[in-house]
Amino acid sequence: MNDVTTYKERIRDFYDVLSPHFRDWWGEHLHDGFYVTGRETKAEAQDQLVAELARRADLPVGVRGLDVGCGMGATSIWLARERGASMTGVTLSSVQVGLANELARREGVDASFRVADADTLETIEPYDFLWMVGVLGHLDDQRAFIDRSPRLLADGGRFVLGDWVATGELTDRDRRRPGRPGTRGSGSLRFPA
Ligand SMILES: C[S@@+](CC[C@H](N)C(=O)[O-])C[C@H]1O[C@@H](n2cnc3c(N)ncnc32)[C@H](O)[C@@H]1O
Repeated sequence: MNDVTTYKERIRDFYDVLSPHFRDWWGEHLHDGFYVTGRETKAEAQDQLVAELARRADLPVGVRGLDVGCGMGATSIWLARERGASMTGVTLSSVQVGLANELARREGVDASFRVADADTLETIEPYDFLWMVGVLGHLDDQRAFIDRSPRLLADGGRFVLGDWVATGELTDRDRRRPGRPGTRGSGSLRFPA
């Protein structure tokens, strides 16, 4: 067993054990919120983040998306319900897959979930968009994933990426503050055909 395998097993075990509790404590979304008025509930702000990213990515209605690191499926289900997307979600955690498929069934939307590793994803039928929120920090080689991502995308496909990133604008003092990095990381990148 090499270090990478061990690291991924730890991620898988973490989400296998904690996801049912996260769902009970916080709901099915496992990502930050986008606060517009500051008076939103956490759940409203989380929905707003998904809506804002979808708006910035200018996602056409009814397209096929791959939700990489899909958690408990809430984002895919939102995109399927609100944007008519046909969604596939992948995660390392089989517990999350079970929760996500159950939720999609209950909601009656076009979204399905399976266990797969982002680092070895392949597809016969490329997707119209990739969605990856709150996942990049888990990846061992982030650059490699981004470099390989066009092969998962159809011509003109979009990569919607939302995450915490440190920028060159941070001072040394900022960098020493855990959990308060500057952010400028959510948006979409468009890859050439
Ligand atoms: C913080 S959660 C975010 C979940 C979801 N994107 C959301 O916004 O609700 C991180 C997710 O990334 C997944 N993940 C981490 N490393 C992965 C990998 N190598 N391949 C696939 N999924 C991965 C975890 O299993 C988990 O579902």
